[in-house]
Amino acid sequence: MDSSDGRRLSVSLIDVLEGGDTKFLVIATHFEALMIRKEYGRVETIRDETHPLRFYAVRYWIDATAAERCHGDPEVQALTAQLYRIARVTHVVNGVRQGDGMRALLDERRARVEADRRSGFDRRVKDVGRREGNRRGVNRRLGPRRTHDRSGEVDLIGAARRARENADAAFSHFKVGAALESGDGTVFTGCNIENATYGLTICAERVAMFKALSEGHRVFTRIAIVADTQAPTPPCGACRQILWEFGGNLEIQLANLTEEKGRHLLKDLLPLPFDARLL
Ligand code: THU
Repeated sequence: MDSSDGRRLSVSLIDVLEGGDTKFLVIATHFEALMIRKEYGRVETIRDETHPLRFYAVRYWIDATAAERCHGDPEVQALTAQLYRIARVTHVVNGVRQGDGMRALLDERRARVEADRRSGFDRRVKDVGRREGNRRGVNRRLGPRRTHDRSGEVDLIGAARRARENADAAFSHFKVGAALESGDGTVFTGCNIENATYGLTICAERVAMFKALSEGHRVFTRIAIVADTQAPTPPCGACRQILWEFGGNLEIQLANLTEEKGRHLLKDLLPLPFDARLL
C-alpha cells in the first residue's frame, strides 16, 4: 500500500466456531488494546445482530504504514494465529482509503478513546471484572450508552484524595493516592504500600493500574495523583513505564489536598520510551 495518501480501512468477516465465543472476545479485546497501544489505529468489533457467532472487525488504520507495521508485528501474528484456530476469517475490505470523516477518531491515542464510540461488544468484555460480573452485559444491544460516566465528569482528584487515606507509608510517612479512569469510565484507585524491606514498596499509581488490569480493563484515559505537598508529586520512573505500557499517552493530573497542581501528558514525562514496539 502507498503510505503517502492517508488513512485506510479494512473490514473482516469473522465466523466464530461453536464454543469459541468467549475465547474470541478475549482475543478481540487484546487486539483492540494493541492497535491503540502501538498506534496502528483503532478496531471496532461489531456482533451481527442476527448471527450470534458472526462478527465484523473494522480496522481504521492511522495510515498505510501503520497497517503494514501491524501486519508484520509478531504480537499481532500470534493473536491472529489464535483467532484462526477458533474462527473462519474473510477479508471483505483490505486497506481502502477513507474520507476525512474519521480523522477525529484517529488523531489521538487511547487517552481520547471515548466510551460511546466504542462497540457495546467491547464493553461487555470490559465488564467482566465488575461486581455484578457478566450478567449485566451479556447479549446487550450494540450502540451508544452510558453517557453519564463519560470522561471529564468524574472527580478523579477527589477519588485519589480518598484513596490516599489508605496509604500504608509507615517508613517514609509520605502518603500518595491515585485514581485511574478506564475507557468505560470505571475508576480504579490506589495508594502506596510500604513494608519493612523498603524495596518492596509499591506506588499508588501501580496499585491502581494493576487493580484495573487484573479486572480485565485495558483502555485508560486519565490518572490523578495526590500527595500532601506544596510541589506537585509526579509519578516515579517505574510508574511512568508501567503507565506508558498499559495506559499509553495518559493525561496525568497532579494535586495536593486542596488544589490541582498541574496536568501533563505522559509522553511529555517519558520522552523516548522503551516499549514492546522495540522488542
Ligand atoms: N510514591 C508513590 O506512591 N507515588 C509517587 O508518584 C511517588 C512516590 C510513594 C512510594 C513511597 O511509598 C513513598 O511515596 C515515598 O517515596
